[in-house]
Amino acid sequence: MIRHFLRDDDLTPAEQAHVLDLAQAIKAEPFARRPLAGPRSVAMIFDKPTLRTQVSFGAGIAELGGSPMLVEGRLAGIGVRESVEDVARVLGRQVAVVVWRTFFQSDLDTMAAHVGVPVVNALTDDFHPCQLIADLLTVREHLGRLAGVTVAFLGDGACNMGNSWLLAGTTAGMHVRVSGPQGYVPSDAMFERAGEIAAGTGGSAQAFADPVEAVTGADVVVTDTWISMGKEAEEAERIAVFGGYALTSELMAHAAPGAIAMHCLPAYRGKEIAADVIDGPQSVVWDEAENRRHAQKAVIAFLLAQSGSPEAGE
Ligand code: NVA
Repeated sequence: MIRHFLRDDDLTPAEQAHVLDLAQAIKAEPFARRPLAGPRSVAMIFDKPTLRTQVSFGAGIAELGGSPMLVEGRLAGIGVRESVEDVARVLGRQVAVVVWRTFFQSDLDTMAAHVGVPVVNALTDDFHPCQLIADLLTVREHLGRLAGVTVAFLGDGACNMGNSWLLAGTTAGMHVRVSGPQGYVPSDAMFERAGEIAAGTGGSAQAFADPVEAVTGADVVVTDTWISMGKEAEEAERIAVFGGYALTSELMAHAAPGAIAMHCLPAYRGKEIAADVIDGPQSVVWDEAENRRHAQKAVIAFLLAQSGSPEAGE
């Protein structure tokens, strides 16, 4: 069976722990595993802007012995020039893995259903699961554990990062708190799913209207841009409601002693995060950015091995 990584809960708790261990091992020995030797190609398709994702996948695929192939979303016109199904049938004849950043989760599902090779979600409107593997690796490196750790996500909880923290965090047995203005928290369905996962891992998922309450005693405080890619037209209305959720040093002072501050980047200093937090001693954002490469290499190696790829010794 071909395995995909389309959303955070595609990995069971045991699989997530395995991928994190693999990422740690890959970080220690970056050139030891070559499941893409050939080199086999990996298509990287971007329908939204990218910096970290393109660079970390490109470098990581090369380090796994493969060849990264940038597919320019505007030229490919997936779903516009031809259907997602037809694109999938063509890509599956050429490449070993498809990495796709796009808008709709349903398009990613369609790609996965027809391509015949592993598909990796490189961010959709709904989820950013590769970022979460990198983030969990970063938390583990700094705090030494994941299960039982309390994380507070501030700001646009309804965006891909809020959803991914809920699902990936509870999968890891963490206590995930999300705090955003009314209308900007994850859906009830997302909280239900996180609750189901948490019931099996000892984690929890909770919404907080008050950001101070959410941050109080937290081991990890996370934020993200208030204006995700594709939401630029809503800038004025968003800026008007998000102010109280900015991650400032005053807010950070309510967190547990030794707490870390996280941001997937790009960051807007003076908006969702204060400069003295992102550039201060509690910030681990550059580790998160580096860990994208190690995490994504582990995801690709895991999916290839699970999908029965002959060269894919993990
Ligand atoms: N929520 C952000 C994440 C950027 C990596 C966005 O979708 O733009």
